[in-house]
Formats: sequence, C-alpha cells, structure tokens
Amino acid sequence: MNQEHEPEATRRDASDTESSRASRGWWDSNADEYQSEHGAFLGDDRFIWGPEGLDEAEAALLGPAAELKGRRILEIGAGAAQCSRWLAAQGALPVALDLSHRQLQHALRIAEGAADETTELVEADAGALPFRDGSFDLACSAYGALPFVADPVRVLREVRRVLRPGGRFVFSVSHPIRWAFPDEPGPEGLSVGASYFDRTPYVEQDESGRAVYVEHHRTLGDRVRDVVAAGFRLEDLVEPEWPEWNTQEWGGWSPLRGHLIPGTAIFVCTVAAEAPVHG
Ligand SMILES: C[S@@+](CC[C@H](N)C(=O)[O-])C[C@H]1O[C@@H](n2cnc3c(N)ncnc32)[C@H](O)[C@@H]1O
Repeated sequence: MNQEHEPEATRRDASDTESSRASRGWWDSNADEYQSEHGAFLGDDRFIWGPEGLDEAEAALLGPAAELKGRRILEIGAGAAQCSRWLAAQGALPVALDLSHRQLQHALRIAEGAADETTELVEADAGALPFRDGSFDLACSAYGALPFVADPVRVLREVRRVLRPGGRFVFSVSHPIRWAFPDEPGPEGLSVGASYFDRTPYVEQDESGRAVYVEHHRTLGDRVRDVVAAGFRLEDLVEPEWPEWNTQEWGGWSPLRGHLIPGTAIFVCTVAAEAPVHG
C-alpha cells in the first residue's frame, strides 16, 4: 500500500458512496502491484474466472466460444481487460468497464502493439452504467465490482437494463463461505473465525477513520435473492474445484484450502422474461 500509516482493518458499515470512493482510491494506488503480482497468472488475453484458474476457454459459461463472434459484451470491473481481450480474440465486441483509471491504463499498456483494436475501455462506476437499455448481448465480471459495492442489486439491475431480452450475465465473487475463515492460505485459514451470517463489511481505514478498502459480504442465499430481485433467472452456480496443476497461492486462496473449501462462486444468470415479484 502507498500509505504512510498502515490502515486499520475492522468490520463496520460502509455506504455505497464510501465504498465506491475507497475502491477507486485503492485500485488506483494498488493497480501496479496487482498487475505485477497476478498479471502472469491472468495472462494478457486469457479469461480466468478466479484464483482456481478456471478458464472460460474450457468452461464456456458465456456459451460456446464459436458463438461469441459479433456479440456485444460488457465486462464489469475489467481491471486490465484481460478477459475482454480474450473475448475480442473470439471475434466478440467487448466493452471493458472499470472504476479505476490506473487499472485501465494497464489495459492500454497491454494493448499497445497488440493486434487487439476492438476492446473499448470505459471508466465508470458499475452502479450507473453509461449505456442505453438493451445495448449488450452478454455481460461478464471476474471478481469485478460486485464484491466491493454496498448495493449489489443496484449493479445487477443496471446490468439487466443494458442487456437485451434473453441476455446472459455471468459473474464471479469470493465464495461466501470464505468469510467464516481467516484470510490465510495456510492451516490457520482452516478454522472458523467469524460468523458466516455476519454481513458487516470488511473495512480498512486510515488514521482519520476514512475507508481506504472495503469488501462486502453476502451469503449464498443473499446473492441468489439479489440476482432474482434484479430480474434475472439463475441458471447455474459454479463452484470451481482446485485443480492439481495449480500450485500458486493468491492471498488467502491456496492449494491447501482450495482442496477443502470453495474459494469462488460463479453465478450464471439470464434476463428473466417476467419482472420479479419483489423488486
Ligand atoms: C479483483 S479486481 C478484478 C479485475 C479483473 N476482472 C481481474 O480478474 O483481474 C476488481 C476490479 O473491480 C473494479 N471495481 C471495484 N468497484 C467497482 C465499481 N463500483 N465499478 C466498477 N469497477 C469497480 C476495481 O477497480 C478492480 O479493477
């Protein structure tokens, strides 16, 4: 962290505005470190759903790769747009959206000199998408935005609005069960240390009490209800298993823990024909 004082980690409420401001600041300050630490694993033009390494080229959660050609696809919380670049290589027309200017600068850095001219970059908050209704065929997000916002239904409703009827949204987040365990890759990360049911956000704050990093916890049931409330139908909930080939640690994700508990939850949703009953 580029801070003079180490931030204090705590659990406390954080509004949508505070969370969004903290995310922008944190990702702008930490994008360089994130890309240098994880860039090789992510690959410049691969679509990786999370630390387990599940690759869209094999998982086809957005549909068969051959059918992506010509599709307008919105990527939320795209970071350096690695996933969008893979989509562009399949002939799709991706738009990579992120809140962080610095993350998008990494997208420009990677694209420099590469053949990919088709990935459009947009700097915006996922809670207010600057696009017309029904302007995308598909949307996706690999750990982008949704773990960090106080009002995930607002983001989901926005994604639903910009999708055409029958459109699909696939997004991954930290598996909610992780919130019950310490965020440690070793054996100390295997004993329950907090209530799974405690939705109080995880906040890192500076000496004046200002949030500099925020993550929001939703239980699995909360996430399902959010998806339905926003007008989606949940088609699948994928919990990738840790593969033998993957020997790397990513923060609290590790082969040790990955073989015992899920680390990522991927929600496969389609725009529901009917408006939700509650919402
Ligand atoms: C864990 S990174 C994931 C980036 C990329 N999908 C990847 O797999 O490397 C989370 C990204 O979400 C972005 N983000 C966080 N809150 C956001 C928001 N409210 N709107 C848009 N992007 C947001 C961050 O700037 C960051 O680039």
